[in-house]
Amino acid sequence: MDWESILLKCGENVHRQIIPLLKGASQKGPNLGVGAGGDPIKHVDLVAEKAIIDTLISHNVSFTLISEESGIRQYGENPKQNYVTVDPIDGTTNLTRGIPFYATSIAVSSKPTLNSVHAALVTDLLRKITYTAEKGKGAHRNGEKIFPSDETSLEEAVIGLDLNTYKVREIAPKITDLISRTKHIRHLGANALELCYVADGTTDAFIDIRGKLRVTDTAAAWLIIKEAGGKITRPDGEELSSKLDPKERVNFVASGNMKLHKIILELIKA
Ligand code: IPD
Ligand code: CA
Repeated sequence: MDWESILLKCGENVHRQIIPLLKGASQKGPNLGVGAGGDPIKHVDLVAEKAIIDTLISHNVSFTLISEESGIRQYGENPKQNYVTVDPIDGTTNLTRGIPFYATSIAVSSKPTLNSVHAALVTDLLRKITYTAEKGKGAHRNGEKIFPSDETSLEEAVIGLDLNTYKVREIAPKITDLISRTKHIRHLGANALELCYVADGTTDAFIDIRGKLRVTDTAAAWLIIKEAGGKITRPDGEELSSKLDPKERVNFVASGNMKLHKIILELIKA
C-alpha cells in the first residue's frame, strides 16, 4: 500500500474541507459533545475527521480508526490490517480563535501500539506545510528531506514547553532549572506541529511532562522526529511506548540531538 500518497490525499482533503470554514464568521461555535479523548468537540473537528475517513474509504483501505473525536471504529473487511491514529485538528482552540497554528495528525501502524507506527503525516493546515515519514525512509517537509538542529547551547536554543495544565504547581518545580538557563521558551498551542518543528530544526527541543497530552496527538510526530534523526524519550530517558488509544496520555522530551537531550533530561530531574 502506498501510504505516503494516501496520507497526502487525506491531508489535502482535510485542507479542502476546512479552509472554506475559516472565511467569515468565527469558528468558536457551540460544543458538540465530548470527544473520545475527553475534550469538547467543535464542528471543525468533525469535518476534519470525516475528510480523513472518507479519503481512506475511497482508497479501499480496511482500518481501525483510533481518533480523539469518534474513538475506536472499524472500517472495511479486515480492519485489524491497519490502525490509523488521528488527531483531526491539533490546535482546535487556535483555529477557533484565529490563531494561525493548527494541524492534522495521522499515524498508521500494524498494531495498536506507538512503536509499530510506520507511516505518518502532520499538515500545517493554514500554511499548507506537510511533514511526512515512513519507517526507514527518513522524514520530509513538502517532499524535502529534513534534519533536526545540532544546537547544544541552552543560551541559543529555542525550546518548546507545554505548561498548559491546572497541575502546574506539581510540574513547575521539575522544569524551573531548565527555564532559568534557557533564553528562548515557547508554547504555540498545537503539539503535533511543535514536535515537527523539532524534527526540521525550526526549534531545538519540545517538552511535555504534564501527563495530559493524548497519544493521538503524538503518534505521527513521534515517527517524524525519529525518522528525521531527532530524539524523543520519556522524561527519565527510557523509550517512549504507549498503547494507541484515545484515552492514553504520554510524557516526553524531544530534542534535535543527543547532547542537548541529555542536558535537558539532567535539568528536569525526572
Ligand atoms: C491540544 C494542543 C495543545 C495542548 C493540548 C492539546 P487539541 O490539542 O496540542 O497545544 O496544550 O493539551 O489538547 O486538543 O487541539 O487536539
Ligand atoms: Ca484535536
